[in-house]
Amino acid sequence: MVHADMFRFPQKSLHPLTRRIRSRLLTLFGNQPPRNHGVYRVEIEGHRVKRVCMADSFEAESHAANLRTFGRDGIYPALILRKENELWVEYIEGERLREVDRDILDKLAALFAVLYRRDPVLVPIEETHYNHTLHVDLNFLHGVGVLSAARYRELDAMADRVTPTALWIGYDCVDAILKNFLICPDGRVRAIDVGSLRERVPIGTGIAKASIRWLGSEREYFLDALTKHSVPDFRPYMSFLELAFSAFWQKNCVLERKRHFVSPELFDRFVD
Ligand SMILES: Nc1ncnc2c1ncn2[C@@H]1O[C@H](COP(=O)(O)OP(=O)(O)O)[C@@H](O)[C@H]1O
Ligand SMILES: [Mg+2]
Repeated sequence: MVHADMFRFPQKSLHPLTRRIRSRLLTLFGNQPPRNHGVYRVEIEGHRVKRVCMADSFEAESHAANLRTFGRDGIYPALILRKENELWVEYIEGERLREVDRDILDKLAALFAVLYRRDPVLVPIEETHYNHTLHVDLNFLHGVGVLSAARYRELDAMADRVTPTALWIGYDCVDAILKNFLICPDGRVRAIDVGSLRERVPIGTGIAKASIRWLGSEREYFLDALTKHSVPDFRPYMSFLELAFSAFWQKNCVLERKRHFVSPELFDRFVD
């Protein structure tokens, strides 16, 4: 008798069915920029591992290299194998973060501090693309009608005012939304989304995303918690990162047709 398990490990997709159907339809009929990859839980002899399929082996290897860099710190899943466009990593058992109290914020700050303290370099702004990219993103948002002409002019002028003279460049968890972290049975908070670990990005990028998406009134507490870890001082340019993240995110929402996330009011906080 031929049985499927003779050829494959038992596997379960970690993406909800609705997301998989949407991705399949977009692949078949859409022309949006490519999005990621399948993410699966695979069982090998009763042992769970996570299988992440990326667009290509270049992308997979750059994430693999970052996972190796932080392997001993245990803040991300351990890398088991990188082969072609696939990463096979530790499947972390734990509970998804839903709400955060200050204990969780302290643990998250400690996780970010591990990233921020690894080989940070202060780079003059003119040696980076970040100011230019912010102008391009704002211009795009004006072009597609998310920003009115008046709002665009205001934000475009503000972009230069909040641009710092230099940026700390290093590692970050750039996709710092709650569902990308788990609280483990031993009390540790760990990051699970291997695609979120990026190198050579402005330090604070992840915090800017957290600030815009979910930190709310805990922003100051979280920034103070990070400062206690003696991380490179990105606070003076937080408003630059927050504006840059907002423009980048809104641009992506338009490009990926995530209409429910497109919200021009997001920019009110920068001008009101
Ligand atoms: N190690 C893990 N333990 C438990 N759940 C996980 C784990 N890894 C991923 N998941 C679940 O799978 C989902 C997608 O995984 P993730 O690596 O964040 O991929 P994506 O790039 O699609 O966001 C997560 O939001 C989480 O619900
Ligand atoms: Mg994720």
